[in-house]
Amino acid sequence: MKAIVVVDENWNIGKDGGLLVHLSGDLKYFKERTIGKTIVIGRKTLESFPGAKPLPGRPNLVLTRNPEYRPEGVQVFNSREQLMEHLGTDTENVFICGGENIYRQFIEDCDTVYVTKIYATYPADRSFPNLDERDDMEVTWSSDVQEEKGIRYQFFEYTRK
Ligand SMILES: NC(=O)c1ccc[n+]([C@@H]2O[C@H](COP(=O)([O-])OP(=O)(O)OC[C@H]3O[C@@H](n4cnc5c(N)ncnc54)[C@H](OP(=O)(O)O)[C@@H]3O)[C@@H](O)[C@H]2O)c1
Repeated sequence: MKAIVVVDENWNIGKDGGLLVHLSGDLKYFKERTIGKTIVIGRKTLESFPGAKPLPGRPNLVLTRNPEYRPEGVQVFNSREQLMEHLGTDTENVFICGGENIYRQFIEDCDTVYVTKIYATYPADRSFPNLDERDDMEVTWSSDVQEEKGIRYQFFEYTRK
């Protein structure tokens, strides 16, 4: 299982139900990494997507505790256990895509985390565990520094040691 996230310098990820900043290069990167793969998201993250619609070209698995929540075009699971049972052991192509609540419940199951680090800080109310403070994960790849709208950012791959 893998996770993919964009963080600021404080490992913050969101504010008021949305992203901190929209970087088209990062959205393109997210699409390239996840297209054709299974993505797992929380109900709030699904609702943050344009029109609250699932992302096309990949199965969208959504977690909610509301048994009546049945939006179109997604597979709904009402517990972590139900989802894990559905996934079985073949989780290589499963991407945990947020938000905070979901990342924190699945981070220990992830062997690879794709982190986009934005070299800026933003007001925020959601965060991701700081992988640089953990001794079980290491950086195994990084891209060149990107720049867009005067904002510098960089792609990293963290792998479980
Ligand atoms: N920077 C990034 O890469 C990134 C990526 C994704 C999201 N985000 C941001 O993160 C924020 C959203 O994060 P969030 O933590 O508020 O919400 P979230 O993780 O997207 O969704 C939380 C919801 O998921 C459901 N849920 C969680 N655990 C569950 C479980 N074990 N079983 C069944 N359902 C479960 C619950 O839905 P119900 O309330 O319906 O029961 C819960 O309210 C937004 O600001 C978004 O933009 C950032």
